[in-house]
Amino acid sequence: MSSDVVSIPPAAGGLSGSLRVPGDKSIAHRAVMFNGFGQGTALVTGLPAGLDVNSTIVATRKLGAVIEAAPQQGVRALRIRGCAMKPTRPIDPIDCGNSGTTMRLLAGLLSGCGIAFELTGDASLRRRPMGRIAIPLREMGAVIVTAPKGRAPLRVRRSSLRGTQHLLPVASAQVKSALLLAGLSAHGRTCVTESAATRDHTELLLRAMGVDLHEQGGALCIDGPVVPQCVDVEVPGDPSSAAFFLVAAVLVAGSDIRIDGVCLNPTRIGFVHLLKRMGAKIEIETTGVCGGEAVGSLRVVTPRTGTKLCGIEISDADVPAAIDELPILAVAAAAASGRTVISGAAELRVKESDRIASVARLLAGFGVSVQEQPDGMTIHGAGGAFRGAADSDPAGDHRIVMAAAVAALRAPAAVRIRGAGAAAVSYPEFFDTLEGLRT
Ligand code: S3P
Repeated sequence: MSSDVVSIPPAAGGLSGSLRVPGDKSIAHRAVMFNGFGQGTALVTGLPAGLDVNSTIVATRKLGAVIEAAPQQGVRALRIRGCAMKPTRPIDPIDCGNSGTTMRLLAGLLSGCGIAFELTGDASLRRRPMGRIAIPLREMGAVIVTAPKGRAPLRVRRSSLRGTQHLLPVASAQVKSALLLAGLSAHGRTCVTESAATRDHTELLLRAMGVDLHEQGGALCIDGPVVPQCVDVEVPGDPSSAAFFLVAAVLVAGSDIRIDGVCLNPTRIGFVHLLKRMGAKIEIETTGVCGGEAVGSLRVVTPRTGTKLCGIEISDADVPAAIDELPILAVAAAAASGRTVISGAAELRVKESDRIASVARLLAGFGVSVQEQPDGMTIHGAGGAFRGAADSDPAGDHRIVMAAAVAALRAPAAVRIRGAGAAAVSYPEFFDTLEGLRT
């Protein structure tokens, strides 16, 4: 991971502008991967330039899909010819980089395709739990060897899968998706029951690709084997990237920003409702539907006198629809008056970094007191400007890097952020876009 340092001065005036954010990372992974395994060809437009999605593109190509740039359709457009669920056996391990979505979804998709393969990744990904997919995939017949403690690399022998019923102990769209994707090649019915509703991009896209993914007694079911049909996807803007600018505009008095073309899928915009509960003024306008996903704009107007935010309780029911935005919500909570208690969020400990520890360290650097709990944290809001944090070291985690940059806007002096290059995992243009909003 990059070790470069970026210096962020405090905001001198409001942030202003109308912008678009890069294509949604979750939808982009799926659009590339599912079409790469589908029958036929598809055009995928609006892809983000981040490293995570690039890991999926490189891996899918290695597995036999033909993926070519389609420059006449836009800079981030790809034409994909799928391998129709008959991937080429990869000679070398597939490197998923920093991307949990690439590893977990590919493991499910590939396990029943009748080839041996190995999935690996960077040091952060090799620390993350993979037993949560390896165990249920083994129940389906996959022969998987993990590193100790159920970690990557995952070595999978040539296997044949049978449809199985799964009850998911953790609320995870990645695990749900891995098992539904395994259901495409399994013989018989695969059913997945979630412990809490998580992002549903896999369901939406598989249905758009003609897969009969139906609900039965609260479970999502697929009758395999079945080959999805390639379908064009226009990837909408990533709400998780938009979240950083929304919080920045909420925290900086006199701001007025509008973000267009954002994915407004309800399973993704829980953070907007949580920010509103804190007292932020955010307008949501749905303008259409793109590839089955609601799309529209988000606008924040903060008066010159600033917005008075108050602490709130964020509990397990709120967590799945805001899981990736909890670090930036914690920055908003740090600027609010009173206590914000986040609970039911133990999953944060197994993200790209331990995001409970990373957020606590980040906010402590800005003079904000945070108590960690195993499944969350209590943030004692500063209610005003932050204290200085000359240096911030966000553990090489892209979302903590961007959260640090937003917090720096409220600091009394410039803040140096170490390892800022990690933002490129999801949002390489982040710092330029942030600078462009200053007035
Ligand atoms: C993702 C699901 C979430 C999220 C991750 C992307 C996806 O992970 O944190 O950034 O694309 O399915 P979990 O499903 O493991 O919670």
